[in-house]
Amino acid sequence: MAKVKVLAFNGSPRAGGNTATMLAALAEGVMVAGGEIEIVRICDLAIQPCVACGGCDETGECVLVDDMTQLYEKIIAADRVVLASPIYFYGITAQAKALVDRTQALWNRWRLPGGPGRRSVDPARRGLLLAVAATSGAKVFDGAILTSKYAFDAMGFAYGGELLVRGLEQRLDAAARPEVLREAGEHGRKLLAILSA
Ligand SMILES: Cc1cc2nc3c(=O)[nH]c(=O)nc-3n(C[C@H](O)[C@H](O)[C@H](O)COP(=O)(O)O)c2cc1C
Repeated sequence: MAKVKVLAFNGSPRAGGNTATMLAALAEGVMVAGGEIEIVRICDLAIQPCVACGGCDETGECVLVDDMTQLYEKIIAADRVVLASPIYFYGITAQAKALVDRTQALWNRWRLPGGPGRRSVDPARRGLLLAVAATSGAKVFDGAILTSKYAFDAMGFAYGGELLVRGLEQRLDAAARPEVLREAGEHGRKLLAILSA
Protein backbone atom coordinates (compact mmCIF):
# COMPACT_ATOMS: atom_id res chain seq x y z
CA MET A 1 0.00 0.00 0.00
CA ALA A 2 1.25 3.50 -0.83
CA LYS A 3 2.47 5.51 2.14
CA VAL A 4 0.38 8.48 3.32
CA LYS A 5 2.07 11.63 2.00
CA VAL A 6 2.31 14.62 4.32
CA LEU A 7 3.35 17.96 2.88
CA ALA A 8 4.51 20.41 5.55
CA PHE A 9 5.19 24.10 4.97
CA ASN A 10 7.59 25.87 7.32
CA GLY A 11 6.84 29.61 7.20
CA SER A 12 9.63 30.70 9.54
CA PRO A 13 12.63 32.55 8.14
CA ARG A 14 14.71 31.48 11.17
CA ALA A 15 16.75 28.40 10.33
CA GLY A 16 16.72 25.81 13.12
CA GLY A 17 14.18 27.83 15.07
CA ASN A 18 11.11 26.80 17.03
CA THR A 19 8.90 26.06 14.03
CA ALA A 20 11.63 23.91 12.47
CA THR A 21 12.19 22.03 15.74
CA MET A 22 8.48 21.40 16.21
CA LEU A 23 8.14 20.23 12.61
CA ALA A 24 11.07 17.84 13.00
CA ALA A 25 9.34 16.27 16.03
CA LEU A 26 6.07 16.05 14.11
CA ALA A 27 7.89 14.45 11.16
CA GLU A 28 9.30 11.81 13.50
CA GLY A 29 5.74 10.94 14.55
CA VAL A 30 4.59 10.73 10.92
CA MET A 31 7.44 8.37 10.04
CA VAL A 32 6.97 6.21 13.13
CA ALA A 33 3.35 5.79 12.05
CA GLY A 34 4.47 4.63 8.59
CA GLY A 35 3.91 7.82 6.59
CA GLU A 36 6.22 9.98 4.54
CA ILE A 37 6.70 13.70 4.94
CA GLU A 38 8.25 16.47 2.89
CA ILE A 39 9.07 19.70 4.72
CA VAL A 40 9.20 22.74 2.46
CA ARG A 41 10.96 25.81 3.83
CA ILE A 42 8.94 28.58 2.25
CA CYS A 43 11.69 31.14 2.84
CA ASP A 44 14.07 29.20 0.59
CA LEU A 45 11.64 29.67 -2.27
CA ALA A 46 10.73 32.68 -4.39
CA ILE A 47 6.97 33.07 -4.07
CA GLN A 48 5.54 36.37 -5.26
CA PRO A 49 2.43 37.72 -3.58
CA CYS A 50 -0.89 37.50 -5.44
CA VAL A 51 -1.36 40.50 -7.75
CA ALA A 52 -5.16 40.15 -8.05
CA CYS A 53 -5.00 40.09 -11.85
CA GLY A 54 -8.08 37.86 -12.02
CA GLY A 55 -6.33 35.42 -14.34
CA CYS A 56 -7.08 32.36 -12.20
CA ASP A 57 -10.79 33.32 -12.07
CA GLU A 58 -10.93 32.37 -15.74
CA THR A 59 -8.54 29.42 -15.91
CA GLY A 60 -7.77 28.10 -12.41
CA GLU A 61 -4.10 28.67 -13.23
CA CYS A 62 -1.90 31.35 -11.71
CA VAL A 63 -0.31 33.68 -14.27
CA LEU A 64 2.77 34.12 -12.09
CA VAL A 65 5.55 31.66 -12.81
CA ASP A 66 7.87 31.10 -9.85
CA ASP A 67 8.50 28.49 -7.16
CA MET A 68 4.78 28.34 -6.34
CA THR A 69 4.16 26.73 -9.73
CA GLN A 70 5.65 23.39 -8.59
CA LEU A 71 3.91 23.60 -5.19
CA TYR A 72 0.42 23.47 -6.73
CA GLU A 73 1.09 19.92 -7.94
CA LYS A 74 2.61 18.91 -4.59
CA ILE A 75 -0.49 20.20 -2.76
CA ILE A 76 -2.79 18.27 -5.08
CA ALA A 77 -0.75 15.08 -4.62
CA ALA A 78 -0.58 15.32 -0.81
CA ASP A 79 -2.79 13.30 1.56
CA ARG A 80 -2.27 15.65 4.51
CA VAL A 81 -0.91 19.17 4.74
CA VAL A 82 0.70 21.04 7.63
CA LEU A 83 0.98 24.82 7.70
CA ALA A 84 3.60 25.76 10.28
CA SER A 85 4.47 29.33 11.15
CA PRO A 86 5.58 31.56 13.98
CA ILE A 87 3.15 34.32 14.86
CA TYR A 88 4.18 37.69 13.48
CA PHE A 89 1.86 40.51 14.54
CA TYR A 90 -1.01 38.11 15.31
CA GLY A 91 -0.84 36.32 11.98
CA ILE A 92 1.36 33.94 10.01
CA THR A 93 4.60 35.27 8.48
CA ALA A 94 4.50 37.31 5.27
CA GLN A 95 6.25 34.49 3.41
CA ALA A 96 3.63 31.95 4.50
CA LYS A 97 0.83 34.40 3.70
CA ALA A 98 2.16 34.86 0.15
CA LEU A 99 1.85 31.10 -0.36
CA VAL A 100 -1.65 31.09 1.13
CA ASP A 101 -2.83 33.93 -1.09
CA ARG A 102 -1.56 32.10 -4.17
CA THR A 103 -3.82 29.11 -3.32
CA GLN A 104 -6.66 31.26 -4.68
CA ALA A 105 -5.79 29.65 -8.04
CA LEU A 106 -6.57 26.19 -6.61
CA TRP A 107 -9.84 27.42 -5.17
CA ASN A 108 -10.79 28.64 -8.64
CA ARG A 109 -9.66 25.39 -10.21
CA TRP A 110 -12.17 23.39 -8.16
CA ARG A 111 -14.92 25.91 -8.78
CA LEU A 112 -14.68 26.24 -12.54
CA PRO A 113 -17.02 24.19 -14.75
CA GLY A 114 -15.17 21.23 -16.23
CA GLY A 115 -12.70 21.32 -13.32
CA PRO A 116 -12.19 18.48 -10.85
CA GLY A 117 -15.20 19.63 -8.78
CA ARG A 118 -15.57 19.70 -5.02
CA ARG A 119 -12.27 18.65 -3.56
CA SER A 120 -12.91 17.66 0.05
CA VAL A 121 -14.42 14.35 -0.99
CA ASP A 122 -12.06 12.40 1.22
CA PRO A 123 -12.50 13.39 4.89
CA ALA A 124 -9.02 12.03 5.61
CA ARG A 125 -7.51 14.84 3.54
CA ARG A 126 -6.86 17.13 6.49
CA GLY A 127 -4.77 20.18 7.15
CA LEU A 128 -3.06 20.84 10.48
CA LEU A 129 -1.94 24.24 11.72
CA LEU A 130 1.26 24.35 13.78
CA ALA A 131 1.95 27.80 15.24
CA VAL A 132 4.37 29.14 17.84
CA ALA A 133 4.34 32.49 19.64
CA ALA A 134 6.49 34.28 22.18
CA THR A 135 3.68 35.68 24.27
CA SER A 136 0.80 34.07 26.11
CA GLY A 137 -2.06 36.26 24.85
CA ALA A 138 -5.45 34.58 24.66
CA LYS A 139 -6.02 35.72 21.08
CA VAL A 140 -2.47 35.36 19.78
CA PHE A 141 -3.35 32.46 17.44
CA ASP A 142 -6.80 33.65 16.30
CA GLY A 143 -5.56 35.21 13.07
CA ALA A 144 -3.47 32.17 12.10
CA ILE A 145 -6.37 29.81 12.81
CA LEU A 146 -8.76 31.70 10.55
CA THR A 147 -6.20 32.09 7.77
CA SER A 148 -5.25 28.42 7.84
CA LYS A 149 -8.88 27.23 7.87
CA TYR A 150 -9.60 29.08 4.64
CA ALA A 151 -6.22 28.19 3.15
CA PHE A 152 -6.84 24.47 3.72
CA ASP A 153 -10.28 24.82 2.19
CA ALA A 154 -8.77 26.42 -0.92
CA MET A 155 -6.15 23.65 -1.09
CA GLY A 156 -8.85 20.98 -0.87
CA PHE A 157 -8.31 19.87 2.72
CA ALA A 158 -10.71 19.80 5.67
CA TYR A 159 -9.49 21.58 8.79
CA GLY A 160 -7.76 18.98 10.94
CA GLY A 161 -7.02 21.02 14.04
CA GLU A 162 -4.08 22.83 15.45
CA LEU A 163 -0.96 22.56 17.58
CA LEU A 164 -0.36 25.93 19.23
CA VAL A 165 2.53 26.67 21.56
CA ARG A 166 2.92 29.88 23.53
CA GLY A 167 6.03 31.10 25.33
CA LEU A 168 8.55 30.23 22.61
CA GLU A 169 10.72 33.24 21.83
CA GLN A 170 14.42 32.47 21.43
CA ARG A 171 15.54 30.16 18.64
CA LEU A 172 16.19 27.15 20.86
CA ASP A 173 13.22 27.52 23.23
CA ALA A 174 11.23 24.66 21.70
CA ALA A 175 14.26 22.36 21.86
CA ALA A 176 14.28 22.88 25.65
CA ARG A 177 10.62 21.88 26.07
CA PRO A 178 10.41 18.07 25.74
CA GLU A 179 6.68 18.10 26.49
CA VAL A 180 5.86 20.22 23.43
CA LEU A 181 8.11 18.08 21.23
CA ARG A 182 6.29 14.98 22.47
CA GLU A 183 2.99 16.68 21.65
CA ALA A 184 4.25 17.46 18.13
CA GLY A 185 5.20 13.81 17.60
CA GLU A 186 1.77 12.79 18.82
CA HIS A 187 0.13 15.13 16.28
CA GLY A 188 2.26 13.55 13.55
CA ARG A 189 1.06 10.08 14.52
CA LYS A 190 -2.56 11.26 14.78
CA LEU A 191 -2.42 12.80 11.31
CA LEU A 192 -1.67 9.34 9.94
CA ALA A 193 -4.41 7.72 11.98
CA ILE A 194 -7.20 9.63 10.18
CA LEU A 195 -8.86 7.12 7.89
CA SER A 196 -10.53 7.61 4.55
CA ALA A 197 -14.29 7.12 4.53
C1 LIG B 1 8.50 40.45 13.18
C2 LIG B 1 8.09 39.61 14.34
C3 LIG B 1 6.82 39.72 14.86
C4 LIG B 1 6.40 38.95 15.93
N1 LIG B 1 5.13 39.09 16.40
C5 LIG B 1 4.72 38.34 17.47
C6 LIG B 1 3.39 38.48 17.98
O1 LIG B 1 2.56 39.24 17.49
N2 LIG B 1 3.05 37.73 19.07
C7 LIG B 1 3.93 36.85 19.65
O2 LIG B 1 3.56 36.19 20.62
N3 LIG B 1 5.20 36.68 19.16
C8 LIG B 1 5.59 37.40 18.08
N4 LIG B 1 6.88 37.24 17.58
C9 LIG B 1 7.78 36.22 18.18
C10 LIG B 1 7.84 34.89 17.41
O3 LIG B 1 6.55 34.39 17.12
C11 LIG B 1 8.60 33.86 18.21
O4 LIG B 1 9.93 34.33 18.50
C12 LIG B 1 8.68 32.50 17.58
O5 LIG B 1 9.15 31.55 18.52
C13 LIG B 1 9.60 32.46 16.37
O6 LIG B 1 9.56 31.17 15.81
P1 LIG B 1 10.76 30.59 14.90
O7 LIG B 1 11.92 30.35 15.81
O8 LIG B 1 10.23 29.35 14.31
O9 LIG B 1 11.04 31.60 13.84
C14 LIG B 1 7.30 38.01 16.51
C15 LIG B 1 8.60 37.89 15.98
C16 LIG B 1 9.00 38.67 14.91
C17 LIG B 1 10.41 38.53 14.34
